[in-house]
Amino acid sequence: MILPIVAYGDPVLRKVAKEIDADYPDLKELISNMKQTMYHASGVGIAAPQIGKSIRLFVIDASPFAQDEDLSESDRIQLKHFNKVFINPKVIKEEGNEWVFSEGCLSIPDVREDVFRKASVTFEYDDEGFVRHTETLTGLAARVFQHEYDHLEGILFTDKLSSLKKRIIKKKLEKISTGKIQVNYRMRFPNFKKR
Ligand code: NI
Repeated sequence: MILPIVAYGDPVLRKVAKEIDADYPDLKELISNMKQTMYHASGVGIAAPQIGKSIRLFVIDASPFAQDEDLSESDRIQLKHFNKVFINPKVIKEEGNEWVFSEGCLSIPDVREDVFRKASVTFEYDDEGFVRHTETLTGLAARVFQHEYDHLEGILFTDKLSSLKKRIIKKKLEKISTGKIQVNYRMRFPNFKKR
């Protein structure tokens, strides 16, 4: 089932999400619905707060990025099979130089901005069987993980922009929260007003 994606301005996107255990109700179905919702919106990742649930869960399928010919060999290898469910992830360390990439977010349609992030991230997470893993990602794979992880901390990529950039996109963000935008997937707008 395709779920409506929560738009910028909804308080659920600002909460620190809660850990879950294997008894979380209908978890399999939720994960399946989140994947469908992500694919329908042509996203490479979606976090539970974006469908209105403040729990520590996100799904990523960044394999479409592996087609990009400008990528380094290391990026391509990591992204090719980067299709995963992350439950209760916890970042252990972030390392390396910060690098810039133009990011977007399904909760903030039509906004793309350059964001700086560290090159490598090491973290723990539970898989769907609640088996704990430790993993390190670099480059674009790390970035997709870092973006989704931020959602569980109540952080959006627009928070990381300069104050000048924030001022420039302020109006656009207001339009998104009131639903005054064209978007080709289902959304839920926190401050919806009829036009
Ligand atoms: Ni996002």
